[in-house]
Amino acid sequence: MSNIQTFNFSLGRKERNKLNNHTSFVVWFTGLSGSGKSTLANMLEKLLYEAKVKTFILDGDSLRKGLNKELNFSNKEREENLRVAAEVAKILVNSGSVVLASFISPKQTNRDMVKEIIGKDDFIEVFVNTSLETCEKRDVKGLYKKARAGEIKNFTGIDSPYEKPLNPEIEINTEKENLEEAANRIVNLLQKKLELK
Ligand code: PPS
Repeated sequence: MSNIQTFNFSLGRKERNKLNNHTSFVVWFTGLSGSGKSTLANMLEKLLYEAKVKTFILDGDSLRKGLNKELNFSNKEREENLRVAAEVAKILVNSGSVVLASFISPKQTNRDMVKEIIGKDDFIEVFVNTSLETCEKRDVKGLYKKARAGEIKNFTGIDSPYEKPLNPEIEINTEKENLEEAANRIVNLLQKKLELK
């Protein structure tokens, strides 16, 4: 945009990372509704907290209650929801946090855009791979039942697509691995990335 010049602030991400004694980046959880994204992010946050890592959770349901409350579930508005989420995640990375973001982010183009905004070196994609059958059987929020009854339109996996990520850094198969094991596995994989150079 013209007529906008950013001020050159004295302190930045580098200084904040040094203060926290760890790097900052985004762990982005993608998967169907009810796949376990938020539960996994919650477990991971507790483990990182114990390790004195500064974290912040961003998730679909809470963003959609506030900042993105005008947005629905059409492809276009999901894209806008995710663009805003990615911009917020980027700000939080600059603030020095490890961001745990859980959004369905159903399309490859959504996730490509998010990665582009955040920057590829700061983006770790975690695919929470739980089958539609299992998510629907669990139906924790009762949304699948409503979607099948036609009471919710554009429901992911029912009448709106979910494209599996092609190359996630981490894949969690929640039908084979329990979430606690998975959270521990993710922490181990993050150890090296958290180290300051
Ligand atoms: S998206 O596609 O990334 O923009 O979705 P997201 O912001 O993650 O929001 C997903 C949560 O919204 C609830 N919900 C729906 N999900 C999918 N499709 C439709 N139509 C829908 N309507 C409401 C649902 O609780 C999702 O939460 P999770 O945690 O994924 O189950």
